[in-house]
Amino acid sequence: MMGLSVGNTGPAINVGFPGLALQDGPLGIRSSDHATAFPAGITVGATWNKELMYQRGKAHGLEARLKGVNVLLGPCVGPLGRMPAGGRNWEGFGADPYLQGVAAAETIKGIQSEGIMATIKHYIGNEQEHYRQAHEWALPNALSSNIGDRTLHELYLWPFADAVRAGVASVMCSYQMTNNSYSCGNSKLLNGILKDELGFQGFVQSDWLAQRSGVGTALAGLDMSMPGDGLFWQDGQSLWGPELTRSVLNGTVPLSRLNDMVTRIVAAWYQLGQDNETLFDRKGPNFSSWTNDEMGHIYNGSPDDTELVVVNHYIDVQGTGEEAHSIIARKVAAEGIILLKNEDNILPLSRDGWPSFAKAADQLGMKYRVGIFGEDAGEGKGPNFCVDRGCNQGTLGSGWGSGAVEFPYLISPLAALKKAFNPDKVYVTDFPTNAPPFGTEPAILKDQDMCLVFANADSGEGFLTVNSIRGDRNDLNLQKGTDQLITEVATRCGDGNGKTVVVIHSVGPVILENWFNITGVKAIILANLPGQESGNALVDVLFGDVNPSGKLPYTIGKSLDDYGEGAKILYYPNTPIPQQNFSEGLYIDYRFFDKYGIEPRYEFGYGLSYTTFEYSLMSTIPVKSKSLLPPARPETDLSPPKYSEEIPNPSTALLPSGFRKLKKFIYPYLDSSDIKKGNFQYPDGYGTVQSPSQAGGGEGGNPSLYDIHVNVSADVTNIGPVAGAEVVQLYVSYPRSPPIQPAILPQVEAWKFDTDMTDFPVQVLRGFEKVFLEKGETKKVKFSLTRRDLSYWDVMQQNWVMPTSGSYTIRVGSSSRDWRLKGEY
Ligand code: BGC
Repeated sequence: MMGLSVGNTGPAINVGFPGLALQDGPLGIRSSDHATAFPAGITVGATWNKELMYQRGKAHGLEARLKGVNVLLGPCVGPLGRMPAGGRNWEGFGADPYLQGVAAAETIKGIQSEGIMATIKHYIGNEQEHYRQAHEWALPNALSSNIGDRTLHELYLWPFADAVRAGVASVMCSYQMTNNSYSCGNSKLLNGILKDELGFQGFVQSDWLAQRSGVGTALAGLDMSMPGDGLFWQDGQSLWGPELTRSVLNGTVPLSRLNDMVTRIVAAWYQLGQDNETLFDRKGPNFSSWTNDEMGHIYNGSPDDTELVVVNHYIDVQGTGEEAHSIIARKVAAEGIILLKNEDNILPLSRDGWPSFAKAADQLGMKYRVGIFGEDAGEGKGPNFCVDRGCNQGTLGSGWGSGAVEFPYLISPLAALKKAFNPDKVYVTDFPTNAPPFGTEPAILKDQDMCLVFANADSGEGFLTVNSIRGDRNDLNLQKGTDQLITEVATRCGDGNGKTVVVIHSVGPVILENWFNITGVKAIILANLPGQESGNALVDVLFGDVNPSGKLPYTIGKSLDDYGEGAKILYYPNTPIPQQNFSEGLYIDYRFFDKYGIEPRYEFGYGLSYTTFEYSLMSTIPVKSKSLLPPARPETDLSPPKYSEEIPNPSTALLPSGFRKLKKFIYPYLDSSDIKKGNFQYPDGYGTVQSPSQAGGGEGGNPSLYDIHVNVSADVTNIGPVAGAEVVQLYVSYPRSPPIQPAILPQVEAWKFDTDMTDFPVQVLRGFEKVFLEKGETKKVKFSLTRRDLSYWDVMQQNWVMPTSGSYTIRVGSSSRDWRLKGEY
């Protein structure tokens, strides 16, 4: 709170660098005004539309720039979605590393095209909210996510590699421990994997208080401490600040490390063009995260700041006319809608009512009767009723926490539907409550021709508890009694003959089993978290102005148990430092269902359309032959900038004379130049020079990992009645037995062939393209598979290995189970 954003760095005035403003979050500009509330990440993932991913990022970046923000704290790919009830899964793009990686890269490119530094978060293993943070859960330490090396590389790290390759400026390390070292102090993760293997050139910032040690984190590769206070909130006691100065001056932290931190931050600033004063006026944010009033404090967290100045300038950054960001928000929300069920082609609806009925009704002069039920249809007490969207009331537009924003408006489904139906032909009755008076007024159900019933499931960040949900959901059920509401509506609508359309807004998978098979349930729509354009987007799809093309970015199981033991949140600590063992390895979401032959209700990648697509003519053309290992890491003649290694005179670090300190503000200055040599216990092996990873050598890893090995194409034809878009998905199955020959890979002899090594998932997503097809139109869809797409991480080799014997099976289809074409490589 020592600045107007959620994160602020001090300016380096003498050398001309402004302070930086860091602001959440993944779906808009948090705690601001007149800014767009975009659909959440999970909705973006459900679109499977790369262009929209980019456009949403770009609009988000532009809004950040116009609000005076330097660094956006998004996108989010951790959590990845190991646990379907994980509180923050909705901030990311779905439970698959490939989908997350593509969506993150597009988002980053969009954000950074506007000169804003993007932050990929939370690195890494931040899969649940319970015990994510020291002290937040009455335990002095956070939980440890214990992840094997192969699993780390093939699942959790994968999207971070894409982010680095896309040039992301910043990485936020996560709160919890990974393999029992805090992620922000884990040298293997930061120095080793992120900076060496993935070649990350930007800066690592800590999540807010995720830094748990001073010298340790500096040595481990942390570059920026956020928000600056150390072990506790807002006490002004930093683990760095003057302590970092002292540890450099006494030789504990090498000066080169401090220079490296600074270089990474300053270089990112130049890289993004923020030295351009026409685009970045250096005045800082024109809004305050701490008050909605016009007047406020710049250094709101300091009791010494008593001066009231204009802090909120209420600048509208939403764009106008054809440039209005609401257009992108609406497109994403509509394309993110997944049509799960559409019996008897009940959808799309007619604005005049049910088409076949409407004719007869017209003749009789009767109106078609539509009943709308459920609190989730309506406005409730307004979208901003609770801080950080920390309550579930009215229609659900986003989850809660730092990833949420103030809505400039929220078009409710009810408002949009009432406008959409033709009032001359359709009579709409609405009860935007989960307890309509069915008992006392049975006619409100009995008299309907069609019923639309709304339900939702919410979750968020662990610092807020909503309806006894502390971040992570307690189960996968619909919330606030809506299972019961749906059951009642579906059985009694039209006296049992009515048609019921169920609309769900949700943060992730929900169990549909309680009512799925009721005859009256004709259609199910999963609208995810649509943001401000909710109602408009829903109407677009319900009435067929937009043909649904969303696909599930996760699996909908029949119960939580179906996802496996690893999918369960650890709600109670199992040891003083809670341990989450990721023993299921690679087998999360569809990988788990596939491996154990479990029938989901709806599979990953599933979603219906109002038209039908036919697949034909698959071709698989090898471009490069297989080889076990990538070529050696390329040599580079670039070396990092060099600075003087001479430790400065401590007197240069003294508080400048005449300087007015603000209480709690974190300065680097010392009160005394008396520096004592430290006695820091460096960890064993600290002095050992590590050889660079063979998997590294470029941004995102060894550049040859991105060499194309095979090109695949397939024709897709729209053979149905209307135009529409199809998400063509490509899944790869590895050759059954890994062809590791000890003669070629001598180290492998030492390896015990456990399942982690020899087992491959039945299939993995390795490509998707969304194509729009007019009625009758055919398009060729093309994919390129890279070495990385065809390799697995070999723990002994510490490298990506591509099996060379046997063939890969490549399947192209409409979902992870609706395979249409098959090829080999
Ligand atoms: C969250 C981050 C967020 C930060 C700043 C933390 O609690 O985990 O995602 O960026 O706060 O608001």
